[in-house]
Amino acid sequence: MDVSERIAFLSAEIDRHNHRYYVLDAPTINDADYDRLFRELQALETANPQLLRSDSPTQRVGAAPLAEFVSVTHASPMLSLNNAFGDDEVAAFDRRVREGLAVDDDTVEVAYSAEPKFDGLAVGLSYRHGIFVQGATRGDGITGEDITVNLRTLRSIPLRLLPGDSAWPEQLEVRGEVLMLRRDFERLNQRQRAAGEKEFVNPRNAAAGSLRQLDPRITASRPLRFFAYGVGFADGGELPETHSALLDRLAAWGLPVASERRRVHGLTGLLAYHADIGRRRANLPYDIDGVVYKVDDRAAQQRLGFISRAPRFAIAHKFPAEEAVTQLLDISVQVGRTGALTPVARLAPVFVGGVTVTNATLHNEDEIRRKDVRVGDSVVVRRAGDVIPEVVRVLVDQRPATSQPFVMPMTCPVCGSAAARSDDEAVSRCTGGLYCPAQCKQAVLHFASRRAMDIEGLGDKLVDQLVDQHIVRTPADLYRLGLLSLVALDRLAEKSANNLLAAIEKSKQTTLARFIYALGIRNVGESTARDLARHFGSLDRLLTADVGQLQQVPDVGPVVAESIRLFCAEPHNQEAIAQLRAAGVHWQEGDATAPVGGPLSGKVFVLTGTLPTLSRDSASQLIQSAGGKVSGSVSKKTDFLLAGDEAGNKLDKARGLGVTIIDEAQLRTLLANAPMETTTDD
Ligand code: IVH
Repeated sequence: MDVSERIAFLSAEIDRHNHRYYVLDAPTINDADYDRLFRELQALETANPQLLRSDSPTQRVGAAPLAEFVSVTHASPMLSLNNAFGDDEVAAFDRRVREGLAVDDDTVEVAYSAEPKFDGLAVGLSYRHGIFVQGATRGDGITGEDITVNLRTLRSIPLRLLPGDSAWPEQLEVRGEVLMLRRDFERLNQRQRAAGEKEFVNPRNAAAGSLRQLDPRITASRPLRFFAYGVGFADGGELPETHSALLDRLAAWGLPVASERRRVHGLTGLLAYHADIGRRRANLPYDIDGVVYKVDDRAAQQRLGFISRAPRFAIAHKFPAEEAVTQLLDISVQVGRTGALTPVARLAPVFVGGVTVTNATLHNEDEIRRKDVRVGDSVVVRRAGDVIPEVVRVLVDQRPATSQPFVMPMTCPVCGSAAARSDDEAVSRCTGGLYCPAQCKQAVLHFASRRAMDIEGLGDKLVDQLVDQHIVRTPADLYRLGLLSLVALDRLAEKSANNLLAAIEKSKQTTLARFIYALGIRNVGESTARDLARHFGSLDRLLTADVGQLQQVPDVGPVVAESIRLFCAEPHNQEAIAQLRAAGVHWQEGDATAPVGGPLSGKVFVLTGTLPTLSRDSASQLIQSAGGKVSGSVSKKTDFLLAGDEAGNKLDKARGLGVTIIDEAQLRTLLANAPMETTTDD
């Protein structure tokens, strides 16, 4: 056997043992023998670098740390699933599927693939001619981050697929979930404890923290696993007709798939599977938050299609959110950016839904009264997934005799200003404005945030110090910061201070839309700010506009117009704006309603129905960022009607007026191309 044959033999042996250990859970070699094979391969590759292949098992680690993750556009969008919480919602799903597939015969049951719903992170693995070439996170579903070097370190991910019984497609993107097995999580935390390092809260957080590391060596040191649950894209080859056969085939190619998957029939089959997995949940090697049902026939999946970013052919049947009982120690009141006072329950620590919970939101005064929550009560706390924990109800029979109903403070707990509640609102607000340190901190953080002035490096710890030490009282004070005052702060090295000053300087050049958004006017979000900038073209025109003029801006109604007018009339705000301009903050002003550059410049769009992958918000944002306008109703001024599924009467109206009707794919073409003339559809 020559060297290259020996290298090929050793690589195949090591791959086979990885597969047996990490995928089949049936090792046939001990650690020492495995290490011997591995070291021999390493030695041969070092001595013969020309024979080193990128898919060699020795190449799982060793890539240099990245400066940042590069973004990748998914070959097909990575969608999410709709949820069902009870049996009747599952029944409704089965009914919709039957209707969609026109299954009228009551004796015929739909075949489903039923699988665990892994509680990890979605990734896509791209193989070309069976070789792993790229791996990406889900991101926003359309684009994700390239984490190939990190995914290579997972030994459950084959760097080359096994031959199996049938050929791989030339291009194959496998979708699945990265997670940490419970036993590996426990061991990792023991290791963290022993090393005096911070422990991870739950396997999901540990997996997330380990995967998004710029240094792949850190990922390699963490026991991550991958499980495949589908295919995102395939080209140049045939795939099986059913989803369950597809998973079998992925397994034959060496990819890990859940052994708990079953092919079941009809509603009874689905519910029996849910009950069975529910009973076995605690004994599974990994955390799951439900099960997933998918119509098994892949052609039928195609026919059913998608609605509003989720497939019609699949659903997640979630387990009920976990609940626990604990003691309500205190109710404290937090102050938000616009002064809203939010009561927060301080709880005796309790482990629920995979984390230790010590705080839960109580929303507002009315909510507390409705649930009659009092300090000293035993309360039921619920937490599901990443949702903020909440107090569900009080165990009134355990209430101490001395307990008193909660009263919302009449003054702000942070600055002492009066708290006011208007008749039409459920929340009370601190009237202190920027005088209130809590509001000031939030205002500064909002001003600096990415979508506003985008000042990198100004985090909440820093803002706390700057405001508490009276160095910053308004956002304009940021532009007066000097190196000396910054390095005097806790934990700020000179280099970071300089970077921050550079970021502040850079932020001076901005756009009118960002500036308006950064002001933090109540009810003025990013897209309203953009509309205002486009409509008025200049800040002074906006500042002097009356309510009637404001309401001429698309989507600005009486409430928003009144918020803007109140803000602009307030002398403090005028002063703050003058200071920002004096500090050198500037943008390019234009004529009112002047068209802005961009492929959709000046075009008016109306949206109707449900688009296959984009939400309404994302579609509107895409249109606006390309210079187009989004309006709420169809008129003669409308250039395009963007129509999705179940479009309403806007579609008829647009047809009547001869407005061009486009779908999501055509929108994407428009976005990608230079300005296009409006042509009339038939
Ligand atoms: S199928 C078209 N199957 O759940 C949708 N997803 O809300 C394809 N997930 O982020 C998803 N286990 O990462 C599918 N057996 C399973 C799954 C699963 C976990 C995750 C998935 C996605 C989320 C969907």
